[in-house]
Amino acid sequence: MSDDQNTEREGLRPNERYRGNFPIVVEGLVNRFGDQVVHEDLSLKVKRGEILGVVGGSGTGKSVLMRSIIGLQTPTEGNIDVFGQSITEAEPDEEIGVRCRWGVLFQGGALFSTLTVGENVEVPLRQFFPEISDELRANIARYKVMLSGLTEAAASKFPAELSGGMRKRAGLARALALDPELLFLDEPTAGLDPVGAAKFDALTKELKETLGLTVFLITHDLDTLYAICDRVAVLADKKVIAVGTIPELLATDHPWIQEYFNGPRGRNASRSQQCSDLQQADGIVIDKAGKSGN
Ligand SMILES: Nc1ncnc2c1ncn2[C@@H]1O[C@H](COP(=O)(O)OP(=O)(O)OP(=O)(O)O)[C@@H](O)[C@H]1O
Ligand SMILES: [Mg+2]
Repeated sequence: MSDDQNTEREGLRPNERYRGNFPIVVEGLVNRFGDQVVHEDLSLKVKRGEILGVVGGSGTGKSVLMRSIIGLQTPTEGNIDVFGQSITEAEPDEEIGVRCRWGVLFQGGALFSTLTVGENVEVPLRQFFPEISDELRANIARYKVMLSGLTEAAASKFPAELSGGMRKRAGLARALALDPELLFLDEPTAGLDPVGAAKFDALTKELKETLGLTVFLITHDLDTLYAICDRVAVLADKKVIAVGTIPELLATDHPWIQEYFNGPRGRNASRSQQCSDLQQADGIVIDKAGKSGN
């Protein structure tokens, strides 16, 4: 086994951070539902510390891939290592050590509607750290709520009392509950207005940089890809057909990739990113509400 593959299987000690190069390694993944083949020999490596954008047409299996990686979907075939441990071969108890090292924002939010935002954030803390006192758990939850850009008051609101954007942030707060090293975001900016989406992108990037996260980010949002993703993996034809920076992907001649990045929406996203880069180079500051000033 080469260093590159980074699949030592000794496992990590409880307080030890993963230091390998590839926190996620998927090899030969097959997922079938009855006659429907969603993935066929899919392979992918995610680099430590990157934001990997995952794109593909609707129904190509992006969410199924994420669910396979976090052990919610047992693949038909193939192997998936997370932090050097096989998720696919692990006994349920063995996985626990790895499970508390990631946080997930599901596509639909998946907040418990009968719990407040703060109580939602407390759920994983209760599950993995039952010994923590009620007071400390509530304080950690409040801190995560604020880290996700919500006010402290939002912690006592129920999901139905929040806007769509606030619900996304509440889901993010829950995903951050356990101080994860790996963050999974499934369509985090879907349904947000452009300003809200840009703010969420900026928050994701800031969290990645300050907390040293690796981010697996499923998105249809071309602005997000240009603004914050280090690399992009493209799902098509039941596998990852290409992974690389956007310029690297543009150099391939796959029709879906060309259509996606060079279609009208792709060109707009590219132009607005160039515009934002130029403004930054000129020292023009656009505040998060969209007003400009120096
Ligand atoms: N539990 C399941 N049972 C049967 N089929 C499923 C199941 N989960 C997903 N599928 C099917 O697998 C395919 C891929 O679904 P998936 O949700 O991963 O798509 P996606 O790429 O995330 O799409 P979108 O961009 O719309 O979110 C779909 O055809 C879906 O119907
Ligand atoms: Mg999906």
